[in-house]
Amino acid sequence: MILTEGIPRLVVSLVGPDRTSLERDWGRAQALADVVELRLDLWDEPDASWILARSERRPVIVTCRPVRQGGQWAGSESGRLDHLERAVRAGAEAVDLELDTWATACERDWMSAERLVSHHEFEPGAGDVEELLARLGAVGAEALKLAITPSDAENALALLERVSRLATPATLIGMGEAGQVTRALGARYGNRLIYAALDADSRVAPGQLAADRLRIDYRFAEQSSDQIEGWYAVVGNPVAQSRSPEIHNLALSEESLPFVYVPLRVIDFSRFIERLAAHPCRGLSVTLPHKRAALEASTAADSAAREIGAANTLTRRLDGSWEAINTDAPAVLASLGGPEQVSGREVLVLGAGGASRAAVWALRQAGAQVSVANRTASRAAALGEELGARALPSLDVEASDYDIVVNATSVGLAPDTEATPLPAGRFRPGQVVFDTIYTPRHTRLLRDAAAGGAQLVLGEEMFLHQARLQWERWMGRPAPLRTWRARLSAPRELS
Ligand code: ATR
Repeated sequence: MILTEGIPRLVVSLVGPDRTSLERDWGRAQALADVVELRLDLWDEPDASWILARSERRPVIVTCRPVRQGGQWAGSESGRLDHLERAVRAGAEAVDLELDTWATACERDWMSAERLVSHHEFEPGAGDVEELLARLGAVGAEALKLAITPSDAENALALLERVSRLATPATLIGMGEAGQVTRALGARYGNRLIYAALDADSRVAPGQLAADRLRIDYRFAEQSSDQIEGWYAVVGNPVAQSRSPEIHNLALSEESLPFVYVPLRVIDFSRFIERLAAHPCRGLSVTLPHKRAALEASTAADSAAREIGAANTLTRRLDGSWEAINTDAPAVLASLGGPEQVSGREVLVLGAGGASRAAVWALRQAGAQVSVANRTASRAAALGEELGARALPSLDVEASDYDIVVNATSVGLAPDTEATPLPAGRFRPGQVVFDTIYTPRHTRLLRDAAAGGAQLVLGEEMFLHQARLQWERWMGRPAPLRTWRARLSAPRELS
């Protein structure tokens, strides 16, 4: 019983297209999947009997998705149903049938196969969820599946809230980046089928996670057995590039803590935070463009968050309210070796945006003499006046005059990796050059600074320290910095 047994199943889709790849993928799927979905519409020959005749068979759902529902079957409707019927006769335990042709499909003989009624909406924001759920629930299928494309994580969380209140066993999926949480946390909320890709290269739906990431990072088995009590998230727009889920999940899992950590693409922060009232979210890492909104949503804040005017960390209190802190500011100092390393030094900060505010505030607190240089002079002047730094009128600065140079502009960030905020040849031995950018690890600025004999501080340090301070606030124990460093220097594992 694939659909009606009350436990979440991890489903891996076999996408073909030819027998050689199906043979290979079938074998690989055995180790990763509870259920294999045969996507006949993606196969060169949509005949599944040969694969179903194999002895090492697993529970199988057979699907032949027509073009109008996001699949690749462009042939006749009767031909499509013929293929599905043949697969059921060959032993497939369940069949996926689209809502729009349910009545016609039910004229066929599905024998004892379980029937999953499904509907997909690929247009962001399209589809009336309540109306669709009512229609899906009314057909009398053994289970239902609804996939929509939310534009904001808030809509994806609303979808997860619905799962446990449905009479029919259900799978509610948000496709795309904003919907990814429905996959990452679907089992925790009672989704029956968690669809995953065999690997990062064989995704069949936007936002789909690879099966091993679901098992390892998102601890599918523990979610399924109700051992995950709550979750943390990084909130931003965009957010897919963030490495925070990787390192936090690594630590949560190694330390057997009953939480997972997910990326959430959020557009409207205040609506999003209201939505969290119904969810066991313990804390948020907040990134661009929501750091100011995060401070505004909190009922208490540390002096760094208040004076910088931005928070990158929210912690849920027992009464449900949010406490804000700013771990970017102390992370700047930690990256430079602590406040004693900057006290009394001449420091040049490049940029006058949010990242610079945190850096200037922290450096001033530690007793540094700070100068701010920015492309737009008026922004440097305003920031300097507010936070007690000397403002320089442009980025054309003799950087070798300074003990420490901090880049807090976005210049040099991937993909524009040859760009740099300062010309080469303006660095000297004994000087410290710190780039807050961490993709790429070695920015052009750092490469130029190394050539001039300066000592380098990588943006990765800043990233690690702000995450460490969040972890310590949330978990009340030291963060596994050494493990995190090792993970960040290894090649990135794609979700
Ligand atoms: P953040 O909050 O990440 O600091 P921001 O407020 O957009 O983001 O600030 C980006 C910083 O990078 C600003 O100092 C910006 O300079 P302006 O104030 O002149 O916009 C700087 N920056 C971005 N692109 C730049 C470029 N091509 N050359 C020079 N400075 C640049």
